[in-house]
Amino acid sequence: MSAHFNELVLSVHHWTDTLFSFTCTRDPAFRFKSGQFTMIGLMLEGRPLLRAYSMVSAHWEEHLEFLSIKVPDGPLTSRLQHITPGDTVLIGRKPVGTLLTESLIPGRNLYMLATGTGLAPFMSLIKDPESYEPFERVILVHGCRNVAELAYDHFIQDELPRHELLGDMVREKLIYHPTVTREPFRNRGRITDLMFSGALPKQLDLAPIDRMRDRVMLCGSPALLGDFAAYFKAGQWAEGSSSNLGQYVIEKAFVEK
Ligand code: A2P
Repeated sequence: MSAHFNELVLSVHHWTDTLFSFTCTRDPAFRFKSGQFTMIGLMLEGRPLLRAYSMVSAHWEEHLEFLSIKVPDGPLTSRLQHITPGDTVLIGRKPVGTLLTESLIPGRNLYMLATGTGLAPFMSLIKDPESYEPFERVILVHGCRNVAELAYDHFIQDELPRHELLGDMVREKLIYHPTVTREPFRNRGRITDLMFSGALPKQLDLAPIDRMRDRVMLCGSPALLGDFAAYFKAGQWAEGSSSNLGQYVIEKAFVEK
């Protein structure tokens, strides 16, 4: 059996010159948990060229969706950015990943913190009712350089709260806080500064972050993860895993070098 499924591209959306997303068919045998990633890619000269990508889709969705940067000389994304409906993409059969709400001790507020394409696994998670149940509030913070990079902002703000099955829970629990660092916008600043200073919980009328009550999921650039790793260590936060529930989980955004 091949290590991947062959799936058909259904739609492609170009958010900016450097950011796009696409949907493709999903083999019924491909099962995953919301928040996980798998290897995806293209056949190149008879060989698979694959990179890790988080699913934007929730586990229950019929189709698969992925969010990607475009790297001009990136081995995969320089090609993947040109896919069109009807093309074939490879989807690895083995989803994995640490961004699982089941690895967290239930708590008060769950912070989902993402920069850039690190948003992808949280798109999956905010469409999954199980992400909301253990928490009073879910706060999704997406940090980007520019407003145009705030992918899915319209969906999160306008469509998800009206979703037939998820809408009630989303309206009751989800707080979406997009923030931009390099141009004017209603919310400005780096996620690290906003969280470490306590400015963000305060602005959202939430209690100061507290490891005994609050949980954090993190996906973004290595620099962001490094800063938070130091913060968690200093505050003695416990990292969660499938065998030991904890107070935070981390995954790097899979940016192609
Ligand atoms: P900044 O514009 O101040 O560098 P990138 O496109 O480089 O991946 O960055 C995405 C977002 O993440 C940008 O808003 C960027 O802010 C921010 N960022 C980069 N490094 C860090 C870090 N160490 N901590 C918090 N935010 C960061």
